[in-house]
Amino acid sequence: MNENKNILQDSHGRDHAYLRISLIERCNLRCSYCMPEEGVQLSPKSHLMTYEEIYEIAKTFVKHGVTKIRLTGGEPLIRKDIPVILEKLATLPVELSITSNAIIIDSFIDVLKANKVNKINVSLDSLDREKFKHITRRDQFEKVYSNIFLLIKEGFNVKVNAVLIKGFNDNEIIDFINFTKDLPISVRFIEFMPFDGNKWDMSKMVSYKDVMTYVNTSFTEDHIERLQDAPNDTSKNYKIKGYKGSFAIISSVTNPFCDSCNRLRLTANGQLKNCLFSATESDLLTTLRQGNPIEPIIQKAVQAKFKIRGGMDTLEKLQEPKLHNNNRSMITIGG
Ligand code: GTP
Ligand code: 5AD
Ligand code: SF4
Repeated sequence: MNENKNILQDSHGRDHAYLRISLIERCNLRCSYCMPEEGVQLSPKSHLMTYEEIYEIAKTFVKHGVTKIRLTGGEPLIRKDIPVILEKLATLPVELSITSNAIIIDSFIDVLKANKVNKINVSLDSLDREKFKHITRRDQFEKVYSNIFLLIKEGFNVKVNAVLIKGFNDNEIIDFINFTKDLPISVRFIEFMPFDGNKWDMSKMVSYKDVMTYVNTSFTEDHIERLQDAPNDTSKNYKIKGYKGSFAIISSVTNPFCDSCNRLRLTANGQLKNCLFSATESDLLTTLRQGNPIEPIIQKAVQAKFKIRGGMDTLEKLQEPKLHNNNRSMITIGG
């Protein structure tokens, strides 16, 4: 391994400037596509990163080229020391953002603003209260819905993430797009992905192509505008002409965007995952606690990154349950 090389560049030439940090393994919802009904085995508290450790690890990544940090969970806002974490990370030269289910975000408006967190991605899979309750196993639709309006009013840049499940919420695609008519938000339809314990099967997935079939049936071609995607974007972006907001599709299953991947993930218990689908993890926290440098471990993990989806480069491999056994449930990866 070349000592002088950029440690965040992998063997496929991809630079990694985006670090997603999961702050907590717990959540105040129980989405069925994200976690098994019986819950997940939680790490003992002593195995979770403290806010000082999060800061130390993040600082190392920033030193080597990370310019964007997104905080995820579980639900990141239920972590008690979230204000201190934000304050510490806000001292680093990075764009700080958060992905949240928005249930309690109304209590954090000032903290988010004070720490220059402007980009907020909110998970919302249905515009129907009963369906929301069914998928999340909690009756919190109104809270999320009103908080989306609050975030917009307060000037945040809001994206709404909806995981599509066939026969469950695909009939809401057009309602979601019409939700962008008067609201300056981006609604992103996400292809349902397989993770440990989420009972994935290909027939439940609504593909990019399926979404566009719905769109093309409801809007004429001259009303549908394909937008320029940002570099390293996870989504293919569109807009209905005249609408304030836009919509997009995140097609990890049928059209992976791994070629432009710039993301690394740090789990709440201090493990580096080089890919959302990686079967292996690299223990940064133990090394940090031993007082040893974490850079060599980071470099090795980045070098080992597969070109596509943790090595599941075909749909056949992605459908192989065995290949998911060593990956975590989404709730402890943070998306
Ligand atoms: P932006 O910073 O707004 O571009 O957000 P993001 O898409 O990076 O993050 P978000 O937390 O909103 O994630 C939305 C969806 O994209 C989730 O379902 C994630 O699992 C998925 N996603 C995010 N990053 C990756 C990735 O690196 N690979 C794959 N396959 N999916 C990802
Ligand atoms: N497939 C696709 N997206 C998922 N998310 C959680 N589980 C899955 C899955 N199985 C999404 C959440 C959240 C984001 C961080 O990840 O909806 O918006
Ligand atoms: Fe990156 Fe892995 Fe996601 Fe592909 S599947 S975009 S390599 S994190």
